[in-house]
Amino acid sequence: VPRILILFAHPALEKSRIHRRLAARVPRLPGLTFHDLYEAYPDFDVDVPREQALLAAHDLVVLQHPFFWYSTPPLLKQWIDLVLEHGWAYGAAGTALRGKAWLHLLSAGGRLEAYQRGGHNRFTIRELLAPCEQTARLCGMTFLPPYAITGAHRMQEPDIERAAARYDALLHLLHGGDLDAATVADLPLLNEAVDPRLDAMVPA
Ligand SMILES: Cc1cc2nc3c(=O)[nH]c(=O)nc-3n(C[C@H](O)[C@H](O)[C@H](O)COP(=O)(O)O)c2cc1C
Repeated sequence: VPRILILFAHPALEKSRIHRRLAARVPRLPGLTFHDLYEAYPDFDVDVPREQALLAAHDLVVLQHPFFWYSTPPLLKQWIDLVLEHGWAYGAAGTALRGKAWLHLLSAGGRLEAYQRGGHNRFTIRELLAPCEQTARLCGMTFLPPYAITGAHRMQEPDIERAAARYDALLHLLHGGDLDAATVADLPLLNEAVDPRLDAMVPA
């Protein structure tokens, strides 16, 4: 059973429509840790030994965040810059993260159709996360395709409720350990592999 660490990064949770609802739905599961980075480090003063100990104690790292300028909010970048140290996370002696998995669980204001060649944003979400994908690879981690909640700007209450139910189901699915990383490895988004299964897990 994979131990799951959710690194949650939202700088303005009071204004959030999506993540506030997701955060309220984090299931209580053994080995699942929800870690709110902006709450822990409002001054960006990341406690590196604490974060490294958390990483060491988990198998799957979920980076949960809104998409900001095709990237992560700044505290998550700061966390990456400080925590993934040479000689610990990468480099000849840096093997602490080997074999663990890295998954983005993000929301985007833009619609799915906008994230493609010829679309408004010209690249897929996965392509835009290339620096994160390569960071994970450099650390010997398995990069899973991102799970994306797209079209966030247009989502109304029933859609938000469905996204929250899917989020709860996704965490149960990941915790159950029955997601085959090799099968999904090359997908642009994890959604196409899991959304039908998530909907089946959610009572209509
Ligand atoms: C500073 C900033 C940058 C953003 N950049 C993007 C972006 O690059 N692509 C996109 O699809 N949405 C972008 N958005 C929209 C957010 O992703 C969207 O509002 C958020 O995912 C909704 O989640 P929330 O209700 O929990 O805040 C941006 C929003 C802000 C405030």
